[in-house]
Amino acid sequence: MKFLITAGATREPIDPVRFISNRSSGKMGYAIAEAAVAAGHEVVLVSGPVSISAPGGATLVSVTTSDEMYDAVHANLPGTDIAVLSAAVADFKPAEYFPRKIKKHEGGLTQLTLVPTRDVLASLGAIQPRPFLLAGFAAETHELERNAQRKLREKHCDLIIANDVSREGIGFESDENEVTLFFPDHSSIVLNKAPKRELAYELVQTLVKKKKLIDL
Ligand code: CTP
Repeated sequence: MKFLITAGATREPIDPVRFISNRSSGKMGYAIAEAAVAAGHEVVLVSGPVSISAPGGATLVSVTTSDEMYDAVHANLPGTDIAVLSAAVADFKPAEYFPRKIKKHEGGLTQLTLVPTRDVLASLGAIQPRPFLLAGFAAETHELERNAQRKLREKHCDLIIANDVSREGIGFESDENEVTLFFPDHSSIVLNKAPKRELAYELVQTLVKKKKLIDL
């Protein structure tokens, strides 16, 4: 099967030296890519800047901004069987890009106007009917199930992989994670706390099983 996976954070530039970003390390997405390669699948990994290296065997498409990620995902979509959007795409970007470094002594920057970015996951969810399984991620600090179910509905995905980022030792930057998979029929599957690599193997198996069920 062909996996299309997004990972890492995006960077939304303010000027040539400054940007808006977030704490995503890319570890979960890279672990999923590695697990999918190990299981014999074709993998395209569309990644924002991260400090880890891509698994051998995956095709790495490096991007920086949310717009580049959007375009790279759509360009690499043909033939995809399973799309897993684990990237922490910035939800907002500066309305204006300053092509020259903003200087303090010239008044600096005291206010920044932001505009929403394009939602990659929602854009794939809008493809109906679609030949691929679509999995989105949700990083939540509260009301995990309610927020995940809302994202499922709003972005029309086949499942949401949700993790509670308020808990110590899982989620952002950490090597371990625990996730709950939420489905539109309100069923759910918990993948218990484990190193991200182990969790990724279980996740890949579960996604492949789901895709095969849909294709029956
Ligand atoms: N996503 C995306 N493109 C965006 C924003 C998000 O593809 N511009 C995807 C992420 O890759 C992830 C899911 O959407 O799969 C996360 O949804 P989002 O609504 O951004 O969730 P949060 O970042 O948790 O934001 P919030 O809780 O504020 O809704």
